[in-house]
Amino acid sequence: MKNVLLYLLTAVMIVALYGAAFANTPDEPAGKKVFTDAKCSACHSVQTAGIEAKMKKKDTPDLGGIVTKKNAELVKKYLVKQEKINDKNHPAQFKGTPEELAKLVEWLGTVKEAPKK
Ligand code: HEC
Repeated sequence: MKNVLLYLLTAVMIVALYGAAFANTPDEPAGKKVFTDAKCSACHSVQTAGIEAKMKKKDTPDLGGIVTKKNAELVKKYLVKQEKINDKNHPAQFKGTPEELAKLVEWLGTVKEAPKK
């Protein structure tokens, strides 16, 4: 009887430890999650971050390195249609909070440009 209890206890411990281990694995960056949650990846690839656009249109740029090339302020304003890039508004408006937008653009600033084909 005692052995059975010990066995059960060990099983419970293993499950609990597993849970803790997974909870502690570093998540993907917050801004990357905003990017995928906001469905930016429906149109845009970010090759260097392993993101493939669902729709592959060649006039939709890969966003790797974009924040380094433009600048964070401009990109933020562009995404809420307060500013244009190449004389055009962005086709989609970002619907999240300013904090989410900040995280998103901060993360975009960390991804490298896709290698030229
Ligand atoms: C419906 C498709 C679509 C969605 C969704 C979309 N975009 Fe875009 N985006 C485009 C297209 C098309 C362009 C190019 C517009 C142009 O050339 O005027 C663009 C341009 C951009 C640019 C400027 C790139 C450059 O090289 O000038 C940035 C930055 C950008 N998008 C970020 C985002 C982010 C971040 C999201 C998610 C919040 C997003 N986009 C969602 C279609 C989309």
